[in-house]
Amino acid sequence: MMNGLFISFEGIDGAGKSTHIAALAEAFKARGRTVTLTREPGGTPLAEKLRALILNDSMDALTEALLIFAARRDHLTTVIAPALARGEVVLCDRFTDATFAYQGGGRGFDLEVLSKLELWAQDIQGLGNGFLQELGKKGEAAAILQPDLTVWFDLPPEEAAQRLVGARVPDKFESQPVEFFRRVVEGYADRMRGDSSRFARIDSSPPRELVWASVYQVFADKGWLP
Ligand code: TMP
Repeated sequence: MMNGLFISFEGIDGAGKSTHIAALAEAFKARGRTVTLTREPGGTPLAEKLRALILNDSMDALTEALLIFAARRDHLTTVIAPALARGEVVLCDRFTDATFAYQGGGRGFDLEVLSKLELWAQDIQGLGNGFLQELGKKGEAAAILQPDLTVWFDLPPEEAAQRLVGARVPDKFESQPVEFFRRVVEGYADRMRGDSSRFARIDSSPPRELVWASVYQVFADKGWLP
């Protein structure tokens, strides 16, 4: 059986992740891999219900962080860890770096609290035996589950805002001012500094075909795509 691959995609709203995630799913399927395409907040019936609350209802910052990690825990235990244990490729539109960027950077919420929630929600010991065996095969001894790769689509907030004009009715986060997104970008940059080997930063300003070429190159360099 092939090793499971856990890949997350990040960036501010309007950075243009979606088409590239869909194209990567097709590229992996063309290589015979089974792909689980999922997103956060969401990815399970329970987490999708929490998503609707998180994106639309006003709440204090700790409540928001707790709901996000509750959704994440459900997603990890019922979808992500089982798929990885089966050797699948999990492509996840946003994961914990988004929490550090949006709640930590954007909202200015306590990073130490977020780190504690991350430890609890992503604790590998609690994710089931099949998954632990799979990690054992890879020779990893990490205490918390993180993506094997995080692709960060980096775009200046002003450009992202222009791309979003008229695109859809903005949710709670999309309707934030440009200064909020500047702090979100800083939040992503901080996360990348803290774990640089996990990240691939993609400049999302060029035309879509050129961005796709850079994305593909990252996967080819890792030997995951031809
Ligand atoms: P999406 O529109 O890319 O699906 O993302 C949903 C929104 O939720 C987006 O504005 C970013 C925000 N978000 C957070 O604030 N914290 C998180 O942990 C995640 C995963 C998303």
